[in-house]
Amino acid sequence: MGHQLTETSTHRTVPTPEEMTDLGRRLAGLLRAGDLVLLSGELGAGKTTFTRGLGAGLGVRGAVTSPTFVIARVHPPLADGPPLVHVDAYRLGGGLDEMEDLDLDVALPESVVVVEWGEDRVEELADDRLHVVIHRAPTAADAGDDPREVTFRGVGPRWQGVDLAAGLAG
Ligand SMILES: Nc1ncnc2c1ncn2[C@@H]1O[C@H](COP(=O)(O)OP(=O)(O)OP(=O)(O)O)[C@@H](O)[C@H]1O
Ligand SMILES: [Mg+2]
Repeated sequence: MGHQLTETSTHRTVPTPEEMTDLGRRLAGLLRAGDLVLLSGELGAGKTTFTRGLGAGLGVRGAVTSPTFVIARVHPPLADGPPLVHVDAYRLGGGLDEMEDLDLDVALPESVVVVEWGEDRVEELADDRLHVVIHRAPTAADAGDDPREVTFRGVGPRWQGVDLAAGLAG
């Protein structure tokens, strides 16, 4: 990159799936049309669970599920606000090129785009992006919980000066 990238980041420990959904819902309050969110973390980390909350927070139609047979699903807004484009890039081997070939019936700059497995695949889509990395917490669960460590990292001018920690506080 020839230009300076600015960063802002914050971290959360998330004990349960319900709280992961809540975190997604809270992030939705910070998002607007044109935003790109890249979700990474191992199989079963909670990327789709997080996106479910994001869809609820944005107020979009349709259940957010793991798209097994489709690479991308468009969730139109129920009222005002941008649609959610939920992409599973796991099988998107060709990255950006294939993404542009998806032939979605919405424009990406008018949507909130969330890409599971997007890291190292679709960065070129936007200079501005929010990386959300989810990992199983290494420590043993106490009360049967299966906690996750979630790191948010905003890249580019869009996220400069955005107080992620405050925005995600519930
Ligand atoms: N603290 C937690 N946060 C999120 N999910 C959790 C947590 N504890 C348990 N889970 C469970 O882990 C699973 C996460 O599945 P999910 O489909 O969201 O993962 P994923 O990262 O999207 O997987 P994939 O890589 O296959 O797309 C769910 O069954 C969820 O209930
Ligand atoms: Mg998933």
